[in-house]
Amino acid sequence: MNLGFIGTGKISSSIIYGIFSSKLKIKRIYISSRNKNIAKKLALRFRSVKILRDNQEIINKSSTVLLALTPNVGNKIINKLKFSKKKKIISLISTINLNELKKMTRSKNIVRAIPLPPIEIKRGPIIICPPNKSAKNLFRHLGTVIEIKNEKLSYKFWSTASIMASFYELLNVSAGWLMRKKINKNMANKYVADLFLSLSEDASNKRSKGFRKLVAESQTPSGLNMQFLKELKKGKFFIKFIKALENVNKRVSK
Ligand SMILES: NC(=O)c1ccc[n+]([C@@H]2O[C@H](COP(=O)([O-])OP(=O)(O)OC[C@H]3O[C@@H](n4cnc5c(N)ncnc54)[C@H](OP(=O)(O)O)[C@@H]3O)[C@@H](O)[C@H]2O)c1
Repeated sequence: MNLGFIGTGKISSSIIYGIFSSKLKIKRIYISSRNKNIAKKLALRFRSVKILRDNQEIINKSSTVLLALTPNVGNKIINKLKFSKKKKIISLISTINLNELKKMTRSKNIVRAIPLPPIEIKRGPIIICPPNKSAKNLFRHLGTVIEIKNEKLSYKFWSTASIMASFYELLNVSAGWLMRKKINKNMANKYVADLFLSLSEDASNKRSKGFRKLVAESQTPSGLNMQFLKELKKGKFFIKFIKALENVNKRVSK
């Protein structure tokens, strides 16, 4: 299989690192020269990655093409590109829906996917919509594939995935606070990363119980966790959180 990436940004780079640490057999990966720095780094690191300047050439040489552009750029350039009927297209673009993509590419051989940067370490959920054997065969080596039939339902996962930067900001704020209290940077970052990792793993193991139970179990009556959660609730932290989810959902559902 030859893969082509139109757009060599953060998510393309994460997928490519994931591919080369997996058992996937890919003959060649063609990437666009943009972003220049990321493309150069990938081509230097992996022999089978080739940089091509022309997006059309990437498409022509690849059996599967991943569209990894921002929506603005996608809206400008995709309809100028030609996709043969056999070409498999996987769009990673957040806010261009399947109907629009079919019109722009003049192809029906297209699915949408939501991989996330931890694909780099072959971890995390990957939404595919609609279900598609070939996309599943690619992504199943790189994380946990979840196939969604209904595109409208898939939007809810785009919304939930947008929590990612705020999750990292929680780590950043927590470690930064420790550092301001004179804990050295390495120790602060290690403590916070290990804390979040252990909580996430434990939650994943106990997910069938439901997360409400974990919230209850982690609070000693009148204890520190109870105090912290109460303060956040009083400040409407979680109401704002849900509001942000709703607003992103409105944007991706257009
Ligand atoms: N990052 C994530 O976690 C994630 C997860 C799932 C889906 N997505 C979606 O994937 C898409 C890409 O996201 P990203 O985070 O990877 O964005 P990004 O890092 O900004 O990558 C976009 C890439 O497109 C390149 N580009 C711009 N114009 C181009 C052109 N005419 N031809 C070819 N390439 C061009 C940019 O190059 P220059 O830097 O040279 O402009 C850049 O490398 C978005 O729609 C996003 O919503 C992202």
